[in-house]
Amino acid sequence: MTPKTFKIKSFGCQMNVYDGERIAELLADRGLTPAVSGEEADLVVLNTCHIREKAAEKAYSDVGRLRREDGTKPIVALAGCVAQAEGAEAKSRSPMIDMVVGPQAYHRLPEMLEQVSRGGRPVDTDMPAISKFDALPARRRANPSAFLTIQEGCDKFCTYCVVPYTRGAEISRPFGDILAEARSLAAGGAREIVLLGQNVNAWEHEGRGLAELIREIAKIDGLERIRYTTSHPADMNDALIAAHGEVEKLMPYLHLPVQSGSNRVLKAMNRSHTTESYLRTIEKVRAARPDIAISGDFIVGFPGETDEEFEATLKIVDDVRYASAYSFKYSARPGTPAAVMEDQIPREVMDERLARLQARIADHQLAFNRSTAGLDTQVLIERPGRRTGQMIGRSPWLQSVHVDTDAAPGTLLDVTLTAAGPNSMTGAIRQRDAA
Ligand code: 5AD
Ligand code: SF4
Repeated sequence: MTPKTFKIKSFGCQMNVYDGERIAELLADRGLTPAVSGEEADLVVLNTCHIREKAAEKAYSDVGRLRREDGTKPIVALAGCVAQAEGAEAKSRSPMIDMVVGPQAYHRLPEMLEQVSRGGRPVDTDMPAISKFDALPARRRANPSAFLTIQEGCDKFCTYCVVPYTRGAEISRPFGDILAEARSLAAGGAREIVLLGQNVNAWEHEGRGLAELIREIAKIDGLERIRYTTSHPADMNDALIAAHGEVEKLMPYLHLPVQSGSNRVLKAMNRSHTTESYLRTIEKVRAARPDIAISGDFIVGFPGETDEEFEATLKIVDDVRYASAYSFKYSARPGTPAAVMEDQIPREVMDERLARLQARIADHQLAFNRSTAGLDTQVLIERPGRRTGQMIGRSPWLQSVHVDTDAAPGTLLDVTLTAAGPNSMTGAIRQRDAA
């Protein structure tokens, strides 16, 4: 069967969302159309995440659910990091899977589809020297806030992490290619660009670093906001910190994962920073941009983590006063050094630590939200809210803001933040011509 319609389901990080968009453009370029809601797609691409155990299991159960009641099934492509990690084995784990394509090889999907139509079950988990980016069609339409992957892979080898194995070595896309893509995203309607990379602040090309890239992107007309994620503390250099104070379009938000508040655990994780160096960096960033919202990632229950070491994590949460943060139970990933470390922490201990950490983070998040109540700011409208006449957008600090307005997605509204909740803000449109 030659597929006419497709559906892409992306899991995990924003880089997967970006890849999903580019796969959609690639398929559309070859004449396929997105399945309309409710319709059964001829081709389903599951763009999977491998970062935590449950995510991989979920991918396989999602594959299973694609079987239809009458016993037929769509063409199923397993893509993303589970595809990279499992390779050909995915085919034996699920007979439903027609092809397996890794994150660096998805530009070859059209050829693979042809192989499937001839009865093949292709697997492509190569990391080819020719970048997929060169083989993909140009960007056309863009969301008000558009993702742009500028860097992939990781050379840091944190002992818990699969990314160096699933996404490969650190690669930066060329400066000119990124600028061209940013310009076409702006021309396609993007008002905000989120630069993405597993180690985005390690981006460099021909002597230029992320700070220079941001300054150049800021010159693009029509583009009002720039963000970047995810950064490693070790690559948070002075030029980038200075850009936070000087580039108006660079939003006051920084996602800078620390993972743990204990130096012993950080060392065992092979993180190259200490709690002291991390806090110094946060101090410098705040000196450059006092209102900046700091966000982070945490892992609880890393092998050997003691009660005191976990308390140290709570302490760094208090020290930094995070505006938001993500926290996870440690999950042993096969093939990573931490998976074979002694003293794996029992699940109940991890559950209890995670609950305490999340409660602490929630306190700080609410305090941050309250500290912004009453401020006059701008909200980039992204989508309709639950109520009619209500739209949802983002503040500069990445808070979700609910506004009563009929303004279209992509509008940058002058708003007063009128009320703070644990996970979102309410905003009211500011009347400009009071006189
Ligand atoms: N177990 C739990 N959390 C993990 N992360 C990465 N690997 C693991 C793992 N094995 C978390 C880290 C990272 C985020 C993307 O996911 O906090 O910053
Ligand atoms: Fe998941 Fe990490 Fe792969 Fe993103 S890069 S899809 S978070 S494993």
